[in-house]
Amino acid sequence: MPGMDFLREAFRGGNRYVLRLAIVAALGGFLFGYDTGVISGALLFIGKDLGAGEFDEQAFVGALLIGAVLGALVAGWAADALSRRRTKIIAGVIYVVGALASALAQTAPELIAARFVLGLAVGTASFVAPMYISELAPKRIRGGVTSFNQLMIVSGILAAYIVNWALKDTTENWRWMLGLGALPGLALAIGMYFQPFSPRWLVEKGRKDEAREVLCKVRKSEDEADEELAEIEQETSEEGGFREALRPQVRPLIAIGLVLAFAQQFIGVNTVIYYAPKILSFTGVGSGSAITQALSVGITNFVFTGIAILLLDRVGRRPLLLAGTAGCVVSLAALGAFFASSSLQHDASWIALVCLITYIASFAIGLGPVFWLMISEIFPLPIRSSAMSISTVGNWTANFLVSSFFLTLTSAITREGTFWLYGGFGIAALVFFALRLPETKDRSLEQIGRDLDTAEQAA
Ligand code: BGC
Repeated sequence: MPGMDFLREAFRGGNRYVLRLAIVAALGGFLFGYDTGVISGALLFIGKDLGAGEFDEQAFVGALLIGAVLGALVAGWAADALSRRRTKIIAGVIYVVGALASALAQTAPELIAARFVLGLAVGTASFVAPMYISELAPKRIRGGVTSFNQLMIVSGILAAYIVNWALKDTTENWRWMLGLGALPGLALAIGMYFQPFSPRWLVEKGRKDEAREVLCKVRKSEDEADEELAEIEQETSEEGGFREALRPQVRPLIAIGLVLAFAQQFIGVNTVIYYAPKILSFTGVGSGSAITQALSVGITNFVFTGIAILLLDRVGRRPLLLAGTAGCVVSLAALGAFFASSSLQHDASWIALVCLITYIASFAIGLGPVFWLMISEIFPLPIRSSAMSISTVGNWTANFLVSSFFLTLTSAITREGTFWLYGGFGIAALVFFALRLPETKDRSLEQIGRDLDTAEQAA
């Protein structure tokens, strides 16, 4: 079985240490999922407790997304200046503060402020986690191990659904729903304190001996570590920073990062994640069974992300991304057709659930993990933080726009029009990926950077 190679390699001797590092670092992803997922259930109860109106409710959701845009921007600087490791410790501390402040909020503006603070940590951790993991992982398993972060995002969303469901009949439940996020936040801050620095960051700071020490722990042999160290050193001789990331020669790479970022959001994933019960209730099922059916969307997302982890290093990023995006487009086209036909809605409401399931399964093997993975692979080291920060800011901004305007869009251009519009974005992305996206499987981060450079010069 293809995926078994990944497991065999990942559990081999020294790689177990890499797995442990990846799991701790990916706690940042878990909180990303938990904090974005928990609010939909908590909203049902916050409203009357805090006397919050519709505007406040939208602000509880939107404040986190805007905080994430800003967090991603600042993290571009912090990951270089303070290190990936310290940036993640700080993100863990902010997660704790934001979760406690949300749980203790007495007024709607206090909760909006607390959600904004949480957003800063979410935006920061969203890209520093995959960046840190990919800089430590051996190239043979880098795709799967880095995508642990996506698995943790999806687990966080699922955990939020489960916590919301389990606490729905208790008093002060929304305070617990929001406050519980402090625990993984604390685990992240403490866990990262005991992790090594990224060897690539150490080389950039001229701490070559320490970098070699870390590499020797995470590579099979000293020779392998030395070879990689030499490659990293060669790359760090170049200038870095935001200004360099905007140089004309680097723009094609920035464009790939941004197209991946926009495609991941404009294909409409978060309307499904945040509004699955609502979409299903459009089909006329009761709200109870809509929530239960939505849970199956969360479970499918988890299972297929696991499958992607097993396959990314075997079949490569490109085939999974192309197949996954095509699957999303077909599912969106079918979902649109379903809403366009009143007889289907009347006689076969199960079709909507099937479309949502195939949609999320396709997202989970393609755009979900591949966006975060590829932006941690394609940029040369000196500009990696700044360029990842630009892609991530684009991703959170698009997320904010799509999730804020979903319901408005369905009123303006109908439900079918909305899903077909997302499908149209998917087709455009598919063409771009087919023509421009490089394969990054099995190559060192430095080789990828060099090959892309040569390709651009030749073009
Ligand atoms: C996306 C999130 C989305 C999640 C769902 C992540 O890769 O960035 O916006 O909610 O996947 O699985």
